[in-house]
Amino acid sequence: MGIHRGAFLLSYPKSGGTPTSKYLITSALPYINGVKHLGNLAGSLLPADVYARFLRHEGEEVLFICATDEHGTPAELSARKAGLCVQDYCKAMYQKQSSIYAQFGLSFDHFGRTSSAQNRALTQHFYEKLTAHGYIVERTIRQVYSVADGRFLPDRYVVGTCPKCGYPAARGDQCENCTSVLDPTDLQVPRSAISGSTDLEVRATNHLFLRLDALSRAIRTWVDDHADWSRLTRSIALKWLDEGLSERCITRDLDWGVPVPREGLEHKVFYVWFDAPIGYMGATKEWSDQAPHERDWQAWWWDAPDVTYTQFMAKDNVPFHTVFFPGMVLGTREPWTMATQIKSFNWLTYYGGKFSTSQKRGIFLDDALALFPADYWRYVLLANAPESDDTRFTWESFARAVNQDLVGTFGNFVNRTLKLAEAHFGHRVPEGGAPGDVEHRLQDSCQRLAEAYREHLRHQEFRKAVQVLRALWSTGNVYLDRRAPWNLLKTQRDEAAVVLRTAINLIMYFAMAAEPIIPFAAGVVLDALQVNDRERQKWLQEIDLESYSPGREFYVPDLLFRRIDGTEITALQQRFAGL
Ligand code: 2FM
Ligand code: ZN
Repeated sequence: MGIHRGAFLLSYPKSGGTPTSKYLITSALPYINGVKHLGNLAGSLLPADVYARFLRHEGEEVLFICATDEHGTPAELSARKAGLCVQDYCKAMYQKQSSIYAQFGLSFDHFGRTSSAQNRALTQHFYEKLTAHGYIVERTIRQVYSVADGRFLPDRYVVGTCPKCGYPAARGDQCENCTSVLDPTDLQVPRSAISGSTDLEVRATNHLFLRLDALSRAIRTWVDDHADWSRLTRSIALKWLDEGLSERCITRDLDWGVPVPREGLEHKVFYVWFDAPIGYMGATKEWSDQAPHERDWQAWWWDAPDVTYTQFMAKDNVPFHTVFFPGMVLGTREPWTMATQIKSFNWLTYYGGKFSTSQKRGIFLDDALALFPADYWRYVLLANAPESDDTRFTWESFARAVNQDLVGTFGNFVNRTLKLAEAHFGHRVPEGGAPGDVEHRLQDSCQRLAEAYREHLRHQEFRKAVQVLRALWSTGNVYLDRRAPWNLLKTQRDEAAVVLRTAINLIMYFAMAAEPIIPFAAGVVLDALQVNDRERQKWLQEIDLESYSPGREFYVPDLLFRRIDGTEITALQQRFAGL
């Protein structure tokens, strides 16, 4: 495969000058098998979206890419369960997942699929390069063969009784009951998960291995070059490196996957973790191929020193992104873009227990959307982002954040201000009077908070960002209570006009600030104030509480959020009690 930079790119300054910075953002690719749960949203997709939205407001050039991770045994098994061929199953699930993410407001520039032709070609390209440099070797191993099925069985396709706890349906890779890591040959009474046949043999077969051992030094140097990664990311990477890397099998006996282009191995496919991360590039190429005259995927991925690349993921994905995938990339000896920053998250738990797709334990994203609007989830999950530790999701804390912050602080401020202004001055921003010291001090403190907020978002500190956003919103209610325009209206109508005008200005900035976190409600407010694109683009760079000028027309939106009461909390706890 020829990979050439577009000719026009050669004019980028390589050194000297100031190359413009471009931001590439990816979220870990969600597995195709089933609708994802709140943990997947909180620990990767959502923070990546907020970061992308933030950087777009800052005027940066952003490309936000994601895709479904489609290959591997779980997809084959789920398709079989659903009574579909794996292609049809993946297509249906891709559409379902895309629609859910759109409803959550995830602003991907492209949401692709690892089963695309682009990803297949790129995966085979990686294979060729790694082979050429001696980092892929073929070895003979012994593996379970099912005579009845006429095929070798991947570890998960062998089931039997766990030798440790006696659980009768343990899988060949792990016992779900006691979590012991197993080898298929450990199982008692092993049988095929496909046909149930016990006619199994252990036979010799050839597989490909990635020489992570030979790549170890290069990977460590790369990790060492990134001292600014969080403790979580670095500690996981270093733990793996310190334990020593060994060769890793990168092929599987499956039909569903990227075929291995090698004589004698044509019936095997690459291991899903080999082609999945290449999916970041593959999905970008899909995006580029949709409009080849306007988009150039290589400008993001190939010899692109002007690209700052941030990957978002939960902690279980960190070894693959700090060791395995970088090893693959370094082994090509080609100038692929590698992560500048790896933002990883701990677990979101449900009252302390782990969310799990395979065990159907958790609040799934389709259920979540049926219960409450996307912004409620976005707000609560970001306010409690599992950044420094695992975080408990509870219905009590969900309701508290919605009631206190969304309903009581932001929603209440918007509603009381606009209602009062409308009742006394009609649908136009009140005219008259002039702002005084209180308003100037308010403007300064909003500016300071806005700067702190932007700083936190730039550093991907989502919890802190939400704390500051909440503090910013609070300044509005404190100001209104202090100036009490409802009293001023009786004797000092001009003063009341100043206060309401200032408060309407605050609403505009509060909504703009909130957009990365709660884009739907922010959009409703900005539309109600008829804020134009030029104003939206200015974002929070300079807060001017007189910029939304007297006489401008607005309307009062419906209530932005609704309160969640105790009875509802109890009902939700009961409905999800089985978790
Ligand atoms: O753990 C997961 O959900 C994987 N599907 C993540 C893949 S990330 C990337 F490398 F593809
Ligand atoms: Zn067991």
